[in-house]
Amino acid sequence: MRLSTITCLIAPAFLSSVNALTSFEYLQITKNFADAFMPSNSSDLVADLNAKSALFAEDVRGSVDIVGNIDGRQYSTDFLFGLFLGAAQNPSVPSPVGIPISYNVTAAAVEHNTVSAGIKFELEYPILNTTYPIELEVFLTINDQKEITQYDLIFRRWAWATDTIIPQLTPYMAKMLGMSNDNSTLTLHQFMAFASCTQTMTYCKDGSAQYSTIAECLASASALPTGEFYRVGENNLACRAVHASMLQLNPATYCPAMSASGGSFCVERDYTTTIREDHFTQGFLAPKYVTPENKKLVQDIWASSDVKQLSALLDVSMSGQDVHSWDPTFYATMTFVYFVFYYFFAKATDFMFGRFNNAYQELPRELQKNVTMYFMTIVFTAIALALQLVGSPGFKGEWYYWEFRCVRLAGVLTVALYLFELIFRFNMRLPLVAHHILTIFAISLGVTTNEYTQNPTFMLSGIIWLFQATTEQPTFIGLMGYRLKWKKETVALILKISSIQTFVFKAASALALLVYWGLHQNFNYNSIDLVWSVFVWIIAIGLFITQIWGSYVTYIIGVNILKKRPGPPIRLESNDSSNIDLEKGQDEGSEQSSGTVTPVEVPTLGYDGKLMVDKSFAMSKTISSSGSTAVDG
Ligand SMILES: *[C@@H]1O[C@H](CO)[C@@H](O)[C@H](O)[C@H]1NC(C)=O
Ligand SMILES: *[C@@H]1O[C@H](CO)[C@@H](O)[C@H](O)[C@H]1NC(C)=O
Ligand SMILES: *[C@@H]1O[C@H](CO)[C@@H](O)[C@H](O)[C@H]1NC(C)=O
Ligand SMILES: *[C@@H]1O[C@H](CO)[C@@H](O)[C@H](O)[C@H]1NC(C)=O
Repeated sequence: MRLSTITCLIAPAFLSSVNALTSFEYLQITKNFADAFMPSNSSDLVADLNAKSALFAEDVRGSVDIVGNIDGRQYSTDFLFGLFLGAAQNPSVPSPVGIPISYNVTAAAVEHNTVSAGIKFELEYPILNTTYPIELEVFLTINDQKEITQYDLIFRRWAWATDTIIPQLTPYMAKMLGMSNDNSTLTLHQFMAFASCTQTMTYCKDGSAQYSTIAECLASASALPTGEFYRVGENNLACRAVHASMLQLNPATYCPAMSASGGSFCVERDYTTTIREDHFTQGFLAPKYVTPENKKLVQDIWASSDVKQLSALLDVSMSGQDVHSWDPTFYATMTFVYFVFYYFFAKATDFMFGRFNNAYQELPRELQKNVTMYFMTIVFTAIALALQLVGSPGFKGEWYYWEFRCVRLAGVLTVALYLFELIFRFNMRLPLVAHHILTIFAISLGVTTNEYTQNPTFMLSGIIWLFQATTEQPTFIGLMGYRLKWKKETVALILKISSIQTFVFKAASALALLVYWGLHQNFNYNSIDLVWSVFVWIIAIGLFITQIWGSYVTYIIGVNILKKRPGPPIRLESNDSSNIDLEKGQDEGSEQSSGTVTPVEVPTLGYDGKLMVDKSFAMSKTISSSGSTAVDG
């Protein structure tokens, strides 16, 4: 599986140097973030916590509604994940903070580098032998190194949660302190003073010491208000209680929070100032790429009552998600790269045949083009076939994005090849032109339908259908052999077998396509479903008819090759105006049992597109003489 993934993605990845994260990766990082809250089974909780700091950028800016601003990688890690450390280490203490044991991401929207998610955590309260849910609303921005650069966390309905949970804990607090349980306000106050001071005396020693005795600490703490659990960044006991868990991580930094003044952590805050403050450099509305070049332009983008219209830059920045393959202004970078690649591949093929194959050298230019095209078709349809098979686990209901990419790549290689052939060879027969154009249309429709409906069954239809185009290699090997004057018995055999093989494969593919449609796609939710239903029949039947004809032609060529029917010699003019007596050349060759082309057989060469050899040559001569005008037309 891994290997096939790599194989499949290597071509595009090799050529595309843009290393942007996908929406899926942003979501994955969001999950990693939620995972970091889960309890660790590691014996070294502190080391484990430090490993989690890799989630954040060094200069991360954060804000938590119930606390305040939390900036920097270390403080963010210590606060967000250390908050739950105390409860996990001392399950018998009736801590108001529970232990997160599971979560579900219940909402998520990814736009560019910004994620907005709702995460419901289940918090365990061992002493109550129960769990309570809490919901976290999360806004994140993430950089290309997969680090969180900004986070804005909102504890949703947290006041309600603490109103519900804490009264259940106070009897246990009273019990632990040896108090009577008749005044819960008092109990809570005493308990938090006691809990904070116990931790302070344990971890804040020597240089970090805040008090010389626990009595001194309790006296100081008791003078503080209990505070509210939804305002734990202020100068109260609630603030000290949540910071107590972090003392063990870095006493020098966090012990000042436990002092009477609260250090820089537990301070007086003003509601109005706090809400009006604009803490984030980018906001959660800005474009995907904030680069040194556009930073000035984009950092102040927001929607406001001051302006009637949204910023045009927002339109630009959000457009990335609305550009689809069916958009006529979409620049399909890689498709054009494939064309350029085919161009050079054709040149190289022509050069190699011209250099090393005598039969090829003797062919007129138009037929050389045909042979080049046969060769390219064999190579690239084989690659497309491999890609299709890689995508086939979908038939078992195993969906992976790389399967879609493999099948799409198979489609784009085939379409680009056919289009290239239409341009490369002027004189293709009408049925073959129709076949190619229908194929291009069919693949485009399949990709578009899949993209629009996000229904994976359309990918499977694509796989079934692509067999039409990707199982023709034997035919082209036969035709190539025919042109390159291989042993005529061999060529005849290949052509006869391949005519039967293609007929069987194509009949099976067309039938399977219709059966699959009947089983899985015979519905009508969107207008595109109707379009698909109509065209699946047209495509299946239309292409099958051209294929019956193709197989028949292949078979006839195979049969005729062995018939000795010398016709009158025809003289042909090639593009370079030197006269080649084709018939004479073949008379010589026929003695060594190479393929013989007679005027009777030539018209049947459907795949060559050369109904009449002399007529075609007249045509190519016209084209070459009229130069670029004919090509442009
Ligand atoms: C922690 O759990 C994971 C998965 O359950 C396990 O692979 C790992 O060995 C455990 N580590 C310790 C220290 O128990
Ligand atoms: C997550 O969702 C599952 C299925 O709905 C549910 O059983 C579970 O309790 C949920 N867990 C949390 C933490 O919400
Ligand atoms: C905890 O609750 C479960 C069911 O909710 C119960 O089976 C179990 O005995 C309880 N444990 C204790 C220690 O009360
Ligand atoms: C409970 O204790 C608080 C603080 O000591 C006090 O203000 C309040 O009056 C007490 N309430 C009752 C009902 O005794």
